[in-house]
Amino acid sequence: MNAKDAAPAKADTDKSATLSVGGRQTQMPIRSGTVGPDVIDVGRLYRDTGCFTYDPGFTSTANCSSKITYIDGDKGVLLYRGYPIDQLAESSNFVEVCYLLLYGELPTRPQRESFVTTITRHTMVHEQMTRFFSGFRRDAHPMAVMCGSVGALSAFYHDSTDINDPHQRVVASHRLVAKMPTLAAMAYKYSVGQPFIYPRNDLDYTSNFLQMCFAVPCEPYIVNPVVSKALDRILILHADHEQNASTSTVRLAGSSGANPFACIAAGIACLWGPAHGGANEAALKMLEEIGTVDRVPEYVKKAKDKNSEFRLMGFGHRVYKNYDPRAKVMQQTCHEVLDALGVKDQQLLKVAMELERIALQDDYFVEKKLYPNIDFYSGITLRAMGFPTSMFTVLFAVARTVGWVSQWKEMIEDPEQKIGRPRQLYIGASERPYVPVERRG
Ligand code: ACO
Repeated sequence: MNAKDAAPAKADTDKSATLSVGGRQTQMPIRSGTVGPDVIDVGRLYRDTGCFTYDPGFTSTANCSSKITYIDGDKGVLLYRGYPIDQLAESSNFVEVCYLLLYGELPTRPQRESFVTTITRHTMVHEQMTRFFSGFRRDAHPMAVMCGSVGALSAFYHDSTDINDPHQRVVASHRLVAKMPTLAAMAYKYSVGQPFIYPRNDLDYTSNFLQMCFAVPCEPYIVNPVVSKALDRILILHADHEQNASTSTVRLAGSSGANPFACIAAGIACLWGPAHGGANEAALKMLEEIGTVDRVPEYVKKAKDKNSEFRLMGFGHRVYKNYDPRAKVMQQTCHEVLDALGVKDQQLLKVAMELERIALQDDYFVEKKLYPNIDFYSGITLRAMGFPTSMFTVLFAVARTVGWVSQWKEMIEDPEQKIGRPRQLYIGASERPYVPVERRG
């Protein structure tokens, strides 16, 4: 295939690519974004050549156009609506970032006040949800409870499930962003057998989440400002990450016209996997297993062994072939939290830093461009804050909900949107006649 100058009808540029298959030729427009690689529009390929493209895992395939998040994996850049992640983590707060992701611009002061009020006033969940929760086993994984309870929101909030009504779409978006911490805290409280704690409107989003998780009715709860600030920053870092597996799941589920609560429940199910949101839990378990700094080389050796299934959890990324920009902020946050709380996990932090140091010098990791990702330090930080490992992915889901909702809204409002329907390379049996059971075997 060669890209060459031409004049295709609907492309954003004057470039096109030509592909010749068995004597049948097709010219495909090349589209350009604001920044980043161009894409070849293969929409007419099947009609013109009778062939599909084949790209398991979407390693070279753009599934949509989007204005929300930009990643340059080679340079280690992450922008939300054009703003660098480190600047947002340093100077903004999570609710402001939610507004930015949902509406495209940083809010003015009155817009921010109004948005904070709206989100704060939507944090309570229908009282009957408490009885819904009691149907779960207490030892259920909180992510299992989240899949079920978020999916169930569509049974409680029928008045915001009409995806064709722009007002209902906005209401559903606000409800999801506001209620997710409440449901996450309920999942935690249920697992430890403590009463649910209602939201408090005098607290900011993240402090309120902390009090719903850690307050008990028998004594006052005082939010630690260092912990609240650090958790707020962690929520910012996880808020969106363009077309990752769970976001693509939300878009695919939504492409059929499913309601937003059902779509976000689908995203939560996808996030649960250890190759995606479950990696911080896996990274912490690995650091605990390593235990001491002197055992680090043994584990690095194991990770490089072709005959071993073992991988360094919290290392490597499909898109980042450089240091994950979120991992840098996360590492600093981890130090701040551990110092402020005087937590004994310092030993674990030492193991993590030694592992990072050795791996970053090792040819295997250098050649394959494997760097620490955000999950490498987040587990240590979240545990120091008091969260059990089973809650780590739940916290990720709380943060990512705004990204999922923003991407879902963008998809619904995109005039190019169609139901997502990938094709396949069929490698099963070709047509054959049915064989009655007495003539089989
Ligand atoms: N440790 C050791 N080797 C690794 C690691 C690792 N963590 N990650 C990748 N490799 C090696 C692979 O064995 C492979 O080697 P090969 O070319 O000799 O076969 C090569 O690097 C490329 O790996 P792929 O799995 O093909 O890369 P892919 O882009 O599909 O995977 C992934 C990315 C899933 C994140 C992978 O790096 C991994 O499993 N990492 C550990 C889990 C993890 O930390 N996930 C968090 C992702 S971030 C997030 O979801 C927020």
